[in-house]
Amino acid sequence: MAENVQMEKLVALCKRRGFIFQSSEIYGGINGFWDYGPLGVELKRNVKNAWWEDVVRKRDDIVGLDCSIIMNPKVWEASGHVGGFSDPMVTCKSCKKHMRADKVFFFYVLDEKEMADIKDLQEFQKKHSALEIRVTLPTALDVGIEADSISQALEQVDKAISESAKKNNVPNFKKCKILKALVAEDGDEAFLRVENKLGKKCWVIVKASKIAKQGDDRPCPGCFDRTSLTEPRQFNLMFKSYAGAMEDSTSEVYLRPETAQGIFANFKNVLDTSRMKLPFGIAQIGKAFRNEINPRNYTFRSREFEQMEIEFFCRPDEADKWYKHWRDARFQWYIDHGLRSSRLRLRDHEKDELAHYAESCADIEYEFPFGVSELEGVANRTDFDLKQHQEHSGKDLTYFDDVAKERFIPYVIEPSGGVDRATLAFLCEAYTEDEAPDEKGKMQSRTVMKLHPRLAPIKLAVFPLVKKDGMPEIAREIHQDALAAGLASFYDEKGAVGRRYRRQDEAGTPFCVTVDGQTLKDKTVTIRDRDTLHQDRISLQEVVSYVRERVE
Ligand code: GAP
Repeated sequence: MAENVQMEKLVALCKRRGFIFQSSEIYGGINGFWDYGPLGVELKRNVKNAWWEDVVRKRDDIVGLDCSIIMNPKVWEASGHVGGFSDPMVTCKSCKKHMRADKVFFFYVLDEKEMADIKDLQEFQKKHSALEIRVTLPTALDVGIEADSISQALEQVDKAISESAKKNNVPNFKKCKILKALVAEDGDEAFLRVENKLGKKCWVIVKASKIAKQGDDRPCPGCFDRTSLTEPRQFNLMFKSYAGAMEDSTSEVYLRPETAQGIFANFKNVLDTSRMKLPFGIAQIGKAFRNEINPRNYTFRSREFEQMEIEFFCRPDEADKWYKHWRDARFQWYIDHGLRSSRLRLRDHEKDELAHYAESCADIEYEFPFGVSELEGVANRTDFDLKQHQEHSGKDLTYFDDVAKERFIPYVIEPSGGVDRATLAFLCEAYTEDEAPDEKGKMQSRTVMKLHPRLAPIKLAVFPLVKKDGMPEIAREIHQDALAAGLASFYDEKGAVGRRYRRQDEAGTPFCVTVDGQTLKDKTVTIRDRDTLHQDRISLQEVVSYVRERVE
């Protein structure tokens, strides 16, 4: 399924079934804000609960915390957010579009003549490690593309090259696939090589560049105007507000852009009250706000979102060990909850990619339908944050190791994930179209959300086959028993039973129980598995334990 088609279908299903709605939709919505409907809120809560249970409740070296969203603004001065939490923004003066300058890529595919003008072809090939240069386009292609990463932008260049070749009737054009980004950089331009899918030795050279100054003559990705893009300017992402009656600089506060700083600010409180010893972690789930220049890809980049973060404090000489532990444990967590490992990547940052405070950092990335993007980051933040807060607050944030008889500022390993991003990844992975038999045994296409049972919003649906002969009463009793046992159950007696199955398949309900004629004779029911469509016959008493064993 084409990526955008799959995304469109998922978005439509999420709205139709009550997973995700546009915020304030009746007023036309608001860019970058989303609401979770009855199914979505359960799914998201299950994601948070699974994380909390696994990282806090099932371990004795992590405690939880719940900090306020608005904190003393000095926190954000110490953390560097007031001075440095900004993205470079370009604006198109013609179409008024605002874009993150580091998310706009300009590509120029050389035409035949330009290629012929390259004086020393061999030298050029050698310099850019191209095996053979062949020009596929009779006219140069010059585009500006807004994307999250160069690889996502390249996918669009790939499409643009194909479309241009088709439009120009390029003889023998074979679809190209970009295999390797950035072969060589030359000033603010980079050369890329593009490999033909069908034959290894067909190459085109693409020049990619970034905007550096106004009047750079780059086409706006929105309206293609070449004269209207401004120079990048720094734009702080923190939302500002005022605390108290006065609206002036003395009452200015910020909505937190990450939950982490609340943990650092409470390090001493937690240490003194919980008497934890290194190594130990503090975990928090909560809202974070960023005035993203261009929120997009559904809930992926929102302006209000939830984070689930751990700050894991340890001795500096053990930081590397704990960094590897958390990187691998968090990667495995996503696999354990249903993300296919072939769609997950663990990408260690290059040294020059690291934030100034981080010694090492890895991104856990997922192949969304719109491209490979970050789900969670795991970083070794060293002692940077505690040192900053110690300096700015004047409070002692050291730790005394009573075994080694040493006092020092601990290092911190931070696994930082987004609840909404994880939820979106689980939704993307779950969306499946397959076939299932209807009541007459005829195969019909169905849409099914194959959510991990631990995350599924409803665990069990209960149907009476018909609305008579005492079947609804028995079905209601099973439903009430399941609810009383803490299992999210849904009772449905409306419409043909096949339709009821379809509705639950779309909601991602792993099990459906049907009370039928045989139930009246021997007190057994059928229980249907959402994914395999296999039906078991079990006794009424077994229903709750059968489901519980398979969803917890
Ligand atoms: N304390 C470190 C920190 O906040 P980050 O990489 O900026 O690091 C961590 O954010 C995670 O928060 C990301 O991996 C992502 O899952 C989530 N996140 C960040 N910005 C987001 C946004 N605009 N919308 C949704 N989730 C976001």
